[in-house]
Amino acid sequence: MDARLQLRVQRYGWDRAAARYDASWQQPLSSAHRVLVDHLQLRPGERVLDTACGTGGLACELAAAVGPAGVVVGVDLSQAMVDAANTRAVAAGLSHARFERMDAQALTLPDAAFDVVTCCFGLMYLPDPERVLMQMKRVLRPGGRLGLAVWGERRRCAWAPVFTIIDAEVHGEVCPLFFRLGVEGALAKACRQAGLSVPWQIAISQPLRYRSADEACDAMFVAGPAALAWSRFGEDTRLRVRAHYLAAIDGWRVETGYVLPAEFVCDDHDANPKALLNEGKPRDGNDSRRQNDKPVPPFQSTAEMLHRPGQP
Ligand SMILES: C[S@@+](CC[C@H](N)C(=O)[O-])C[C@H]1O[C@@H](n2cnc3c(N)ncnc32)[C@H](O)[C@@H]1O
Repeated sequence: MDARLQLRVQRYGWDRAAARYDASWQQPLSSAHRVLVDHLQLRPGERVLDTACGTGGLACELAAAVGPAGVVVGVDLSQAMVDAANTRAVAAGLSHARFERMDAQALTLPDAAFDVVTCCFGLMYLPDPERVLMQMKRVLRPGGRLGLAVWGERRRCAWAPVFTIIDAEVHGEVCPLFFRLGVEGALAKACRQAGLSVPWQIAISQPLRYRSADEACDAMFVAGPAALAWSRFGEDTRLRVRAHYLAAIDGWRVETGYVLPAEFVCDDHDANPKALLNEGKPRDGNDSRRQNDKPVPPFQSTAEMLHRPGQP
């Protein structure tokens, strides 16, 4: 698929999915969020960029971990996702978290501005993930850390047929490279190509649990990667697509619902291997999340946040 078209499919698809995203995905993705937050060993006052931040679930956890002396910037291609993330941060009183619409492939952020960069379930949607990894490396300070999560191998994700089913209706590919990075070693290889080392990788088995066929279908079609195509389908097409998907996952039916095997791969990278070895400190329990710093007033812009006096 043409890269510009892919970008539009992503942007407007996730705009449509945003309102239902948390209901379908927050719980299943929370284990990957937790793994990243734990392994990144965030320290109070650190500056974090979360790319493809969605509704800000992970970014708000990161903001809690770095505390009010830190800064979290979240960027996403979808304005509806960004709006939801800003609403979430305001509701949680995280005035040091700020979200804006930005393509992860063209980060308009300064070089070496962040201690930590994350991308959780975003790389699979990008036409050129290696290019994005290079962008992430550029905005990381030397010795900064990068935390990534992608879906695992296609054969380990029971919901994978959803793409073939949708693609057959749109006569194209909704997410052409979706499982490319989930193949063993692929994410690490992409990172090495971008000049990032790979000190740590883990594959997590995380079943997707649905109480009903409607829940299972909504997660994929209404709140997930096929939302744009779904929004344009007529009633007949929706019934056909739904029937095909339910047939594809029928082997995983449990009482009235489904438990679909699925796998995540989480990676943790370092923009400067020597610096990480030197800096590597054991994680001190939850202490890094305890803050005595006074809250700072809300920021008018991302640039203002990054140039806050006293930033390391
Ligand atoms: C599955 S969601 C993941 C959201 C969040 N990181 C999480 O863990 O819940 C994928 C997100 O990637 C975003 N996305 C897709 N292409 C993007 C791009 N080129 N730049 C920035 N965000 C993008 C989508 O808008 C969507 O919010």
